[in-house]
Amino acid sequence: LTSERYPVQRLPFSMVSEEDLAAFERIIPGRVVTDPADLEVANVDWLRTVRGCSKVLLRPRTTEEVSCILRHCHQRNLAVNPQGGNTGLVGGSVPVFDEIILSTALMNQVISFHDVSGILLCQAGCVLEELNHYVQERGFIMPLDLGAKGSCHIGGNVATNAGGLRFLRYGSLRGTVLGLEVVLADGTVLDCLTSLRKDNTGYDLKQLFIGSEGTLGVITAVSILCPPRPKAVNVAFLGCPGFTEVLQVFSTCKGMLGEILSAFEFMDAECMQLVGQHLHLTRPVQESPFYILVETSGSSGDHDAEKLDGFLEKALDSGLVTDGTVGTDQRKVQVLWSLRERITEALSHDGYVFKYDISLPVERLYDLVIDLRTRLGPSAKHVVGYGHLGDGNLHLNVTAEAFSTALLAALEPYVYTWTAAHRGSVSAEHGLGFKKKDVLGYSKTPAAVQLMGQLKALLDPKGLLNPYKTLPACA
Ligand code: FAD
Ligand code: MLT
Ligand code: ZN
Repeated sequence: LTSERYPVQRLPFSMVSEEDLAAFERIIPGRVVTDPADLEVANVDWLRTVRGCSKVLLRPRTTEEVSCILRHCHQRNLAVNPQGGNTGLVGGSVPVFDEIILSTALMNQVISFHDVSGILLCQAGCVLEELNHYVQERGFIMPLDLGAKGSCHIGGNVATNAGGLRFLRYGSLRGTVLGLEVVLADGTVLDCLTSLRKDNTGYDLKQLFIGSEGTLGVITAVSILCPPRPKAVNVAFLGCPGFTEVLQVFSTCKGMLGEILSAFEFMDAECMQLVGQHLHLTRPVQESPFYILVETSGSSGDHDAEKLDGFLEKALDSGLVTDGTVGTDQRKVQVLWSLRERITEALSHDGYVFKYDISLPVERLYDLVIDLRTRLGPSAKHVVGYGHLGDGNLHLNVTAEAFSTALLAALEPYVYTWTAAHRGSVSAEHGLGFKKKDVLGYSKTPAAVQLMGQLKALLDPKGLLNPYKTLPACA
């Protein structure tokens, strides 16, 4: 599948031998997995569009074990694919050929949590949702949230610099991650696991590993700043007559909800149709061309409800919104969020999905969706747009009965040239992984790409960590 669709040659790394397996067994006794059924799951990505053929999966528990494994791989010239929850959407989380899969699944311990500062220190394999429960019990929340929370690992989140549903309020992991521990390609442990809000001593090395998608080192532990748990969370789900109105609702929202606005997400009518058809979720408002999910988070329920009511009254009176419903209790808030969060899942039931994740000036966010519907005509089953409008991030997805080279040729490089022409980014939050490594040049200059190649060569001179990913072969 992978080699047919994506022409790529195996690089001359060594093959895993019986002696290597014995060495791994000495480092992590009983946690060297070679069973084909277990390997099958780890070799295929969440979207089931890329597949590797690794013969071994390693499950270390400690940083020291990761270090010993990488030291061995470095000596033996063995390629390694770091893997977290395997929810990545760009083919970065699975091997391309026979790279060793290094899973963080057993590195799932909280190291410490400070309930004054809200600083959490944990191993990289902690599942995001479990961390959120852990800090919630202590009066805090994780600064990020995403539909894959039940499976993705915090190390994977940092490695991809995941954005998600709380980005609008709490910003990028580049701000909330305070420290990292990383094992480099030769086994060196780089301890940058500080828990300081301010630290200007030299270069901020942890930033290199945030968003590096497993190509520069294996993240083994994370120090992250958690915000206090908001006392009141409300969600309004709105129907909107057009994209111009969606933008006007966003402006009104920012003006009227100000500091309590915590999310502004949108989806189009086709998304709603798909979550209904494939997941049997019911539309909570009248049918509309667009839907908006507005979340408020604050410290006073009455104050927030009053502000939200005022905003809704204005939006309905002015015709910007044609229908709306509000959730104030946890159950309804969850039901409304599911409509937005589960679009990815609904799309995956619709057929083959061509996924694009782009940043654009918010005024132009939906233009490409309309343009592509005309361009593709009936060759596409659905062309949908949804995403983190508040962050200028569009998820443009095209579904078809099956993968088609003709459809791919109609989409690429068109989507990328269009994005570059509008000075957007060809990957807003998912990263480049295996599928998008060759489009880096649409968003970065040749000098920037060259420097990235030099950094890779410095940190991983043998190119063992996640080969064939993130950087184009020529970088
Ligand atoms: P994996 O998929 O296992 O790996 C992703 C990449 O990180 C790979 O390149 C891997 O090699 C590398 N990696 C993993 N762990 C480590 C480590 N410890 N050290 C070094 N490298 C490592 N993404 C968003 O940004 N926003 C969203 O809103 C969002 N929603 C999603 C919703 C759904 C339903 C799904 C399926 C995915 C979604 N994603 C989203 C994409 C994905 O969940 C994120 O990219 C997530 O951060 C990946 O975490 P993971 O643990 O699954 O990593
Ligand atoms: C989302 O926002 O739902 C995720 O990034 C996943 C996707 O793009 O489908
Ligand atoms: Zn997203």
